[in-house]
Amino acid sequence: MHSRFVVAIDGPAGSGKSTIAKMAAHSLGFRYVDTGAMYRAVTWKALEEEADMSSPAAIIKIARRLKIRFVPREETVHVYADGRDVTHLIRTERVSRATSLVAPVPGVRKILVSRQRAMGRRGRVVMEGRDIGTAVFPKADVKFYLDASPEERARRRYKQLAARGRRASLKSIVNAIKRRDHKDKNRRVSPLMPAPDAVVLDTTKLSQHEVVRVILGVIKSKAP
Ligand code: DC
Repeated sequence: MHSRFVVAIDGPAGSGKSTIAKMAAHSLGFRYVDTGAMYRAVTWKALEEEADMSSPAAIIKIARRLKIRFVPREETVHVYADGRDVTHLIRTERVSRATSLVAPVPGVRKILVSRQRAMGRRGRVVMEGRDIGTAVFPKADVKFYLDASPEERARRRYKQLAARGRRASLKSIVNAIKRRDHKDKNRRVSPLMPAPDAVVLDTTKLSQHEVVRVILGVIKSKAP
């Protein structure tokens, strides 16, 4: 496999792309970059500093200054924001909700996309997000778009929450997922959509191992 190989994985919340991207990267010996974590880290910092979330200028300033690092450790990749381990802090419902206000800000996207390109430039990377195949790496070597029905994605989320001892009604999760999809797909800047040359996979009825097997098969068939 040549040295500059970029795998782009996009899809809506709950499509399983993070787990799949991590597993694929591990199996290939590639780096794994979770771009959603970068938007979340900027949001976390803005909330932490009590910035005015309705002011693009204030958020852009934070995005420009914030140092985000990914540090692989054991099974996971830890996320650091200005030296602080925010891996778990960026996953709260509060941060998720606020991130959907921060991610559409064009100035924030410009800053983060340029960092994502710098991270991917050396290749041998699996990068995961909403716009990797369409905007960040339109010339990625292989692109995937993972999807699943909103109901199935809600069931997965429900199980994750239950595993952490938290309860929420399935119906409210389905509704939240549909709302987030609508926002991601209809925003003006880099809306969520499959790149024309992406391999689209519906994972509703597939196990994670089955999806990874398909993905690795496609990557190997495209690798020189
Ligand atoms: O994948 P995630 O749930 O961690 O993403 C968090 C938010 O960031 C979500 O609102 C979508 C947005 N996002 C984005 O706009 N572009 C990306 N490349 C990745 C995530």
